[in-house]
Amino acid sequence: MMTEAPLPLPRHDPVMLRECLDWLRPAPGGIFLDGTLGLGGHAEAVLEQLAPTGCLVGLDRDAEALSLATARLQAACVAHGWPQACVRTFHANVHDAGQVLQEAGIHVLDGCLFDFGVSSYQLDTPSRGFSFRQAGPLDMRMDSSGGRTAWELLHDLTEEDLARVLWEYGEERYSRRIARRICERRVRGTLESTTDLEAAAWDAYPAAERHGRLHPATRTFQAVRIAVNEELSALAPALEAAAALLAPGGCLVTLTYHSLEDRLVKQTLAFLAGQCRCAPELPFCVCGTAPRVRLLVRRPAVPTPEEVERNPRARSARLRVCARVQDPGSGDAPSVGQVVVVRPREEFDRGRRETPSVHSRLPTIPL
Ligand SMILES: C[S@@+](CC[C@H](N)C(=O)[O-])C[C@H]1O[C@@H](n2cnc3c(N)ncnc32)[C@H](O)[C@@H]1O
Repeated sequence: MMTEAPLPLPRHDPVMLRECLDWLRPAPGGIFLDGTLGLGGHAEAVLEQLAPTGCLVGLDRDAEALSLATARLQAACVAHGWPQACVRTFHANVHDAGQVLQEAGIHVLDGCLFDFGVSSYQLDTPSRGFSFRQAGPLDMRMDSSGGRTAWELLHDLTEEDLARVLWEYGEERYSRRIARRICERRVRGTLESTTDLEAAAWDAYPAAERHGRLHPATRTFQAVRIAVNEELSALAPALEAAAALLAPGGCLVTLTYHSLEDRLVKQTLAFLAGQCRCAPELPFCVCGTAPRVRLLVRRPAVPTPEEVERNPRARSARLRVCARVQDPGSGDAPSVGQVVVVRPREEFDRGRRETPSVHSRLPTIPL
């Protein structure tokens, strides 16, 4: 009898992988969270350094991506003879990361990564409707199990609200013209597919600006995707939950791909680092902030030109990182600009032999 060959994983290069590992410094026995598993590219690299005694915890709201990534990580365990307990994955929104980890009995993390945004897998799967380069349904939901599709959103909103979405989430300067085209198309019944939405943006752009650096539909698709998935509302709760669980010295690394996300991450990390959130007109602080992390990069790091040439999708990536301080206000974590020494490979290997497994400390929850 012939056995079925495993499905090949879509090709995917984890963005700024070396930089992420340099900051996270996963070591044997550690518990690391990848809050946005995607296809598990970063996660597998982290797993390789914390196995066989540590645990990689992964979340994704996209059930398809989650199952591909879980299969990939489990296959790595089988190939290396590591226990399956090295990998724990959950179908969840990072907005709920605190609750999910608590229910899973995970009360401390040695490091955490959030690689926000849309994955190559989602973009390259026409039936998900994320890309204007391929014909597909107007869906764009990361979590296909519920919520409003792009089609529903585009048919429900008023022209004014559509323009606001395109302006606020896409920073699209032709937001009003595109909103008008979208409304005209939906009256005619010609707003059914990604190609129709792409055509609405194309038609709205002045002819002289249709062949610039960005395709006219780029910002429209970004805006609609962000609105459909309510992407921005998950960032702050996710970062706050992760920071609360980080062990002292543990790093929280974020990758973002557009200025709205980066601004929100920057503001949330500043708050976690102790910057007051109160309105300036208040006579005293009521937000009660205390430094829980120390920021390790003042300006976001960007991919090298070599990486961008190899993987053009990395071009807009911005990496920020902070480390948990001992107690709020004690400031024992490395400071901005301080060189973090990456442990040499032999040290990892020595630790791998000596570190007791965390698996007995973690309750087992079925995937
Ligand atoms: C850029 S990809 C991650 C790629 C991954 N680092 C890798 O190496 O394969 C982003 C992933 O995060 C997921 N995602 C985005 N927002 C999320 C959220 N709020 N909660 C959970 N997952 C989210 C997406 O579904 C997508 O699979």
